Amino acid sequence: MKKIFLLLTLLYTSIAMSKTLYVTGNNVPVFDSKGKQIGVMARGTFGEEISQSGDKTILKVQGYLKKDDEKTLYATKNLMMPLISFDGTNKQASLEVSIATANLSDDQSKAWADAEFLYYDTCSMCHSAHAPKEHTMIEWDGVFNTMRAFAMPTDQEADTIIQYLRAHATDGYATDDEDDE
Ligand code: HEC
Repeated sequence: MKKIFLLLTLLYTSIAMSKTLYVTGNNVPVFDSKGKQIGVMARGTFGEEISQSGDKTILKVQGYLKKDDEKTLYATKNLMMPLISFDGTNKQASLEVSIATANLSDDQSKAWADAEFLYYDTCSMCHSAHAPKEHTMIEWDGVFNTMRAFAMPTDQEADTIIQYLRAHATDGYATDDEDDE
């Protein structure tokens, strides 16, 4: 009897808990409740699902504001990575936005699969690849600047790799690599 009660409680809480959804593309358009585009949301950033409406999902997102910068909501406390880059201005650290459901997934690793592949492909030619969690964002910026000359990625590849490294750094927002050591 006790067991069944526990099971029911677990079931209930998992249903009642909102679902976290991750942005799977680069700079995905975000809209306000009237369907007007207000900016773009960064790859791998996330929010809590509020509801679905047509081909869009209403997400509640939360980030960090920087003094005198009303164009960006940041994904990390160190204010180094954007969550939403706004066309206009924004003063809220927490807000509801609308985003195409096709650009969202509850599987965080989907957001990073191609970037992760590119990183390991580019940066493990001479030494085994260093786990992103070995460094902070600032440290990665420094290392990457040196290693870039060795690996010679295209500008676009470099952008993807540094974004992957920053997001997965010790002070980054991505957590999909935390299970595999
Ligand atoms: C052509 C060979 C080569 C490629 C390609 C290469 N590295 Fe390196 N890497 C080295 C060598 C040599 C060292 C050790 C000497 C040094 O620190 O400069 C090193 C050291 C490192 C270190 C340790 C530095 C430290 O201070 O602890 C990191 C982290 C690193 N590489 C990351 C990367 C990343 C990220 C890439 C891809 C952009 C990359 N490497 C691509 C040759 C390479």
